[in-house]
Amino acid sequence: MESAMFQLSPVNPFFRGEQSRISSCRQQTVTTPVYATLPAAPRTASPVPRLTSLYHFSRAGEYGSRNYPGNCGGNLIKDLIRFFQPSTVFDPMTGSGTCRDVCLELAIPCFSTDLKSGFDAADPKAYAQFSETPGFDFVWAHPPYWRQKIYSDNPRDISFAPSLDAFLECYAVFIRECASLLSPRGKFAILMGDYQDREAGFIPLTYHTKRLAFACGLQQVCTDIIRFSHGASSSRKIYRSSFIPGLHDVCMIFDRPRR
Ligand SMILES: C[S@@+](CC[C@H](N)C(=O)[O-])C[C@H]1O[C@@H](n2cnc3c(N)ncnc32)[C@H](O)[C@@H]1O
Repeated sequence: MESAMFQLSPVNPFFRGEQSRISSCRQQTVTTPVYATLPAAPRTASPVPRLTSLYHFSRAGEYGSRNYPGNCGGNLIKDLIRFFQPSTVFDPMTGSGTCRDVCLELAIPCFSTDLKSGFDAADPKAYAQFSETPGFDFVWAHPPYWRQKIYSDNPRDISFAPSLDAFLECYAVFIRECASLLSPRGKFAILMGDYQDREAGFIPLTYHTKRLAFACGLQQVCTDIIRFSHGASSSRKIYRSSFIPGLHDVCMIFDRPRR
C-alpha cells in the first residue's frame, strides 16, 4: 500500500463513475478497496521520500487508540518528525496519545496534554507554565473539526462550541498561543478537515486555519499534505442526501518568517 497505489472508498461515486458498479459494490461490502495510480513523485534529498502532498497510509500504526473518536494514525506524525528532526515536541490536544506514542518510539521529549487532562488550549493563561522554557521545535495539533465529533460537554471543549464564531474565536487563541511557543527553527503542524452539516452548510475549516495562522504572523512552510481518510466512520455510512463526500483532511505546516 505504500507504493504508488492508494485505496479509494468503494462508496465514492465520484471515482467510480458507473452507476451499475456503484450498486453492485454497495451490495458487496463497503470495505472492498479499489485502486488508482498516484502521480510519480520526483526524487529529492528528503530523508522521507514517501512524504508527499498525498498521504495514503492505510495502516494506522500502533500509536494512540483507534477507538478514540477522531484518532489519527501515527505514521504521518512520524514522517513529519523524521523530516523536520525536532528535538522537542508539543502536543496540546493529544486525545488518545498518538503523537506521544510516536515520540516515545523515536525517543524525542514530548509534552502531551489535552482538555481531558486539565489543559485548556484555548485559554492564554494555560500557557504561562511555559514562560521559562525554551520554545518547542515541533508543535503537532489535531483539533476537533468543530462539532464533527463532540469530545465532551465541557464548555471549554472547542468541539462543543455553540456556534462557528465561538469555535473560531477559541481556535484563533489556540493557534496564536501555540505559535508563541515555537523555537526559532520551530514548525507548527495542524491537521484539520472541512466540515459540513445541514444547519451550518459547508465550513471550510482548512481555509480558516490558514487565515488565522497568517493573521498571527506565521507563514506556510511547504505544500498542503492531503491525508486520505482511510477507516473514517462516515465512509461506512449510506446517506439519503446527495453530496460530494470529503475523503481527506489537510495537514498544514507553518513557521515564523526569518528576519
Ligand atoms: C481530534 S481529537 C485528537 C485525537 C488525537 N490526534 C488522537 O489520535 O487520538 C481532538 C482533541 O481535542 C481535545 N480538545 C477539545 N477542546 C480542547 C481544549 N479547549 N483544550 C485542549 N484540548 C481540547 C479533545 O479532548 C480531543 O481529545
